[in-house]
Amino acid sequence: TSARVTLDRDFTIGDVPRRLFGSFVEHMGRCVYTGIYEPGHPTANESGFRTDVLDLVREMGPTVVRYPGGNFVSGYNWEDGVGPVEKRPRRLDGAWHTLETNEFGLHEFMDWSRQANVEVMQAINLGTRGVDAARELVEYANHPGGTYLSDLRRENGAEEPFDIKLWCLGNELDGPWQIGHKTPTEYGRLAKEAAKAMRYVDPTIELVAVGSSNSGMPTFGEWEHTVLTHVYDEVDYISLHAYYQEHDDDASSFLASALDMDHFIESVISTADAVRARGRHKKHINLSFDEWNVWYQRGKDTEDQEHRVKESGWREHPRLIEDEYTMTDAVVVGTFLNSLLRHGDRVHIANQAQLVNVIAPIRSEENGPAWRQAIFWPFARMAAVAKGRILRPAVASDRVETARYGDADIVDVSATWDEENSRVALFLANRSLDDAAGVEVALRGFRAERIVRAEILEAPDGADRHVSNTADAERVRLQELSGVATSETGITLTLPALSWAVVEVD
Ligand code: AHR
Repeated sequence: TSARVTLDRDFTIGDVPRRLFGSFVEHMGRCVYTGIYEPGHPTANESGFRTDVLDLVREMGPTVVRYPGGNFVSGYNWEDGVGPVEKRPRRLDGAWHTLETNEFGLHEFMDWSRQANVEVMQAINLGTRGVDAARELVEYANHPGGTYLSDLRRENGAEEPFDIKLWCLGNELDGPWQIGHKTPTEYGRLAKEAAKAMRYVDPTIELVAVGSSNSGMPTFGEWEHTVLTHVYDEVDYISLHAYYQEHDDDASSFLASALDMDHFIESVISTADAVRARGRHKKHINLSFDEWNVWYQRGKDTEDQEHRVKESGWREHPRLIEDEYTMTDAVVVGTFLNSLLRHGDRVHIANQAQLVNVIAPIRSEENGPAWRQAIFWPFARMAAVAKGRILRPAVASDRVETARYGDADIVDVSATWDEENSRVALFLANRSLDDAAGVEVALRGFRAERIVRAEILEAPDGADRHVSNTADAERVRLQELSGVATSETGITLTLPALSWAVVEVD
């Protein structure tokens, strides 16, 4: 198998939006409680945050973290999570059939985000609540002082405003499962009025309108069109969510899932631009892919799990969707990141869902260890290395035929040019289950004098594509990629079967 990649210094599509490397913390399962927050844990700091988890988060390097949901936010009262902890109400969270203690809320998340060095992306409840709660939360969070709500924040310990710039106008309100599910017209009108009132309080905020929960929704397309027709002037972004999994042992199709992500992104861009044309608008609406990942929604198993959760009554932080990721999943995640980066001219925000324990790159056990899942690596390296300009690679790769997504390039690529440090970075996946791929990279307008980094993620000797990491064994980890050669005109390298690689030259 072989592929030829051409990178030209003049073929760029824009700057790398650093918010592309976002993540998501929802009050769901064990993401917050016993994930990022566990006051009794041996590594907990004075804020009750697990420092073993914090260290892994910093290593992984998300730039922005969406909070507090997810389905959870559509039934959440933000006021429950502020003020003296002992006075906070215990509530039933209907979305995940969970007992929410509210021990962790907005102030705790702001504190955690500072320690994790991430920007906050705050979602508001447009399921059970509306315009009033939305504008009040902006006032509480962002107004300096001298009003009832901003002074309440100060009394609650935060003298300075939180200054949250990025806000989601609800979550998945197109989904019948969502608390407060709406028609596109109902949502479009509500989002417009909420946006207006929030901006009256703080005109500097950026707003994300809810798009489709996935591209298979019966209302997909119609939803975006109607919603954007209502809110075009008031918002900056429209959201996309997508989760993928392997079906029927068809790994080839699964490995080509990013083709569906490409198609989804391009469809939403077209729809947003059609509304722009029709409404004679000047600005563009950009995309916020604020939930994406591999998630094994096992149908019957999921129903059984939901049943068990309900049978076992209302519990605090039950174990929910703690998927264990394999080498195959890691390659697929690498191709999702490539798809997002290649569309970085319009996808300005993306959040892998979620950060800890719940379909997450980081796992932790209560009173126990924390560890990196296989999917941790492509994210961590791309977040660290993808800087500067996004290059538009010309790729001529051997192809693989897949049942679900048609023909796909076997070698999948994205690339960046960090002019400041004169560095070119390539992120490559080999989708072939059996064959190594020889890759020739032609560089035009760059010189590759030195290999700064060449790392490979592949199944270790003796393991198959289902290999995963556990608390005791980190079997899937980056290794040095040997055999990378540079010349005046380019780079040559070999990708082992089913692998993901990062190569950086200057
Ligand atoms: O990330 C898990 C759930 O998936 C989120 O709560 C919801 O928004 C989506 O359906």
